[in-house]
Formats: sequence, structure tokens, C-alpha cells
Amino acid sequence: MDLKQWWDKAHKENINRWVSDYGKTKIHKLLNVDVKGTVLIIGTGRGTYVKEMFKDDCTIDAMDITESAFDKVNQYLRNKFIFPCSLPESEYDYIIHHLVAQHMSDNDLLIQLKEMIKSLKSNGILGIQFSEGKKYNDLEAQMKGGVRRTIKIMNKLIRKAGGEIVWLSEGNHQYEAPKGLHDPIKYYCEWYGIQVKRV
Ligand SMILES: C[S@@+](CC[C@H](N)C(=O)[O-])C[C@H]1O[C@@H](n2cnc3c(N)ncnc32)[C@H](O)[C@@H]1O
Repeated sequence: MDLKQWWDKAHKENINRWVSDYGKTKIHKLLNVDVKGTVLIIGTGRGTYVKEMFKDDCTIDAMDITESAFDKVNQYLRNKFIFPCSLPESEYDYIIHHLVAQHMSDNDLLIQLKEMIKSLKSNGILGIQFSEGKKYNDLEAQMKGGVRRTIKIMNKLIRKAGGEIVWLSEGNHQYEAPKGLHDPIKYYCEWYGIQVKRV
């Protein structure tokens, strides 16, 4: 099973463990943002954040890895994207990327970052959550959200993609391993939020 099929199944079966559902309060606190205007949400999960931003009168586009992700949020979306290369240029005030990076290889993340950064307005902000810790990057880690990155690597990817980090949160410790993934004793990570702008 590849990643797209894995997510398709997770969305269709509504597997809470993987298809998470963080809301505005937590996401905005971690990323230190007050989202308004035209927003692109990456990874819609079970849809609560999309619905909350719709209530706040934002114009919402979304990108996810599989069409079935949009089933729960179709009526709130202006545009839906699967492929990063389809994103419009200079369109978004905010792009929100929460609990997605730990499911992506460096290569996929770099491709996505390049297109997301191009699709920001000149003063737009891309907010990304990522986690730092022991390095796992195999397919199982990508499926279960165990891909970790240092701040140095995130910085390198973002620079390469045409952006710069303009704000970094404090680290937020987590000791618990994603269920069924790796040895919990070796598991430790720090969660970070960053804001990125176009260079
Ligand atoms: C762990 S959930 C996070 C959901 C929500 N953002 C939250 O914070 O609760 C991961 C979401 O990202 C989507 N996703 C996984 N890989 C992706 C990729 N390469 N591009 C876009 N979305 C992806 C999944 O389908 C799922 O909707």
C-alpha cells in the first residue's frame, strides 16, 4: 500500500488516530497566528478547523493527499487541490500546515514548500508545525507521523524553497510514541511552530 492509498483508507474509515482533528484554538496558539482573509489549509483531517475558519468568514482552499479527505468539508471550500503544482500564485494571506510534515519525506515536503511559498501573497504567512527528535524516515514513519526534523533541516528546506523563517516557537516536549510506532523508550520529540515568508 502506498501513502495515498493509506490516507484514502484512513479517511474513508475515519480512523481518529491518524486523521486528527485539531481546532483553531490549538493551531493558532502553536503557530502564533490570527488567520484572516484567503487561506489555504493543508491536510484537512476530520474537518473541524475548516469549519471554524468558514465561520470566521475566511475564503478557504484546501490541499490534501487524497480526494476522500474533502468529503467532510466540500461545502466550505472554494478550491481543492491534490497536486502542489496546481496551486495559484500570490493568492493566500495564510497557509496552515499542521500535523502534516511528520507524514512527509524531505523530498515531498520540499516540492510542496516551493509551491506553497509561491502561492503566498507578498506579505502572506505560511505556518508550519513540525517535530524534532530521533530520525525516522521510512514509509511506516511517514504513515504514522513519525518523521522528525531538526530546525536546521527545516531552515535548509525552506531556504531552498524560496522562503525564510520569520518566527519560531519554543519547543514543546512529547515523550509518547505514536501508537504502534517504534520503541517508546527511544522516543522523544519536541513540537515546534514556525512562520515562513517569501524571500
Ligand atoms: C494527522 S492529520 C492532520 C489534520 C489536521 N491538519 C490537524 O491538525 O488535526 C494529516 C492530514 O494531512 C493529510 N496529508 C497527509 N499527507 C499529505 C500530503 N503529502 N499532502 C497534503 N496532505 C497530506 C492527511 O490526509 C490528513 O488529512
